[in-house]
Amino acid sequence: MTKPEPTAPFLRACRRLPTAYTPIWFMRQAGRYMPEYRALQSKYTMLERVNTPELAAEITMQPIHAFDFDAAIIFSDILPPLIGMGLDLEFVSGVGPRLNKSIQSAKNVVDLAAPPAAEIMGPTLEAIKLVTAELQPRGIPLIGFSGAPFTLASYAIEGGGSKTYIKAKSFMYNEPAAWDELMNKLVTVQADYLLAQAEAGAAALQVFDSWAGHALGVQDYVKYVRPYNITLFQKLQKANVPIINFSTGTSSYLAEVAACGGDVVGVDWHMPLDWAWEQIGPDKAIQGNLDPVTLLSPWPELKARVNDILDRAAGRPGHIFNLGHGIFPSVPVDSVRRVVDYVHERTS
Ligand code: CP3
Repeated sequence: MTKPEPTAPFLRACRRLPTAYTPIWFMRQAGRYMPEYRALQSKYTMLERVNTPELAAEITMQPIHAFDFDAAIIFSDILPPLIGMGLDLEFVSGVGPRLNKSIQSAKNVVDLAAPPAAEIMGPTLEAIKLVTAELQPRGIPLIGFSGAPFTLASYAIEGGGSKTYIKAKSFMYNEPAAWDELMNKLVTVQADYLLAQAEAGAAALQVFDSWAGHALGVQDYVKYVRPYNITLFQKLQKANVPIINFSTGTSSYLAEVAACGGDVVGVDWHMPLDWAWEQIGPDKAIQGNLDPVTLLSPWPELKARVNDILDRAAGRPGHIFNLGHGIFPSVPVDSVRRVVDYVHERTS
C-alpha cells in the first residue's frame, strides 16, 4: 500500500520531494548545551531520564520549544537495549557509558538474550506515544533511533568507548562464528525495537553506526558489517517510514555504506556535501554535514560554513540540514538559533 505524500518538510526531504525550505534538526539536539536540560540532568540520572516516559518526553520537547527545528528525536540512547540483552550499563559522569559485564568469549554471546522491545524498552515506547500526541497537532515528525550492530557490538566487547577497537576487532577476527551470532542477535533486537518505535508513532527511523568507520577499513566493513546492516535495513522496510543510515569516518567508502540500504544517508563533515552526494548516488537523500565545532566560531565564519553546505546542496530536493555528528555541550544556544533560522530564511 502506498502512503499519501507527506506534508512535513523533513519527511518530504527524506523522500526527495520538493520542500518549501530546507528542513533542519541536530543530532543530540536535546542535551547539555540547553539550560533546561541541565536542570533535569542535575536531578535525575541518565537512566532515570531515559526510563521515565514523562521525563524523556519533556526532554525531547525542550529543543522543539526553544528552536524552530523541523523534527524531534526521541530522548534515549543507543545503549539501553543492551541492558535488556543481559549487559550491565552505567553512564559515568565525565567518562561516558560503561558496560560492566562486557562480552569476552563465545559463551558470553550464547548467553545474550534477544527479547522483544516491548519487554525491554517499554518506557521509551511509552515516551514516543506521549511525544507523538504533542507533536502531531504541530505537524512536526518524531524520529526514532537505534545503534547499528557494529557500533553496539563494539561497546559490548570493549565495555565502553575505545580509540583502537582492539578488543572488538580481535574478537571479530578470532571468533567468526561468535561474531556472526552476536551481530545476528543485535540485528534481531534492533529491528524489533525500531519497528516498535514506528508502531508507537515515530515517523522516521535513524540507525547510528557511529564507530564502524573509525574502526574498520572498507574490506572489513564489507565482510564483517555490511551483511548485517543489509538484513537490518531490509527488516525495517515493513515500517513504511523513511530510514536514515548515519555513520561517521566512512568518507572513503560512502558508496558501500549507501549500499546497505536506507532512504537517507547521514554523513559527517569530512567531505564536501556535493562530493558525498555523488558517492551515495542521486536515488538517496542526504543529511548533514556541518562540523559541530563550527557552532563555536563567530557568526561570519559559521554563516560561511552553512552557506557552503547550502551552495553544495544547490536546492536539490532531498537535503536535510544537520550536523556531521552530535552537538557539543559547550555550544552557545544563540548559535543554534541563528543556524536554524538562517537555513530557513535563506532557503525559503
Ligand atoms: O539526538 C538526540 O537528542 C537523542 C538522544 C541521543 C543521545 N545519545 C542522548 C545522550 C542519541 C540519538 C544518542 C546516540 C548515541 N549514544 C550514540 C550515537 C550517536 C553519536 O553521537 O555517535 C552513541 C555513540 C551513544 C553513546 C553515548 N551516550 C556516549 C558516548 C555518551 C557519553 C558522551 C557524552 O556526550 O557524554 C552517551 C551519553 C548521552 N547520550 C548523553 C546524552 C544527552 C549525555 C549524558 C548526560 O546528559 O549526562
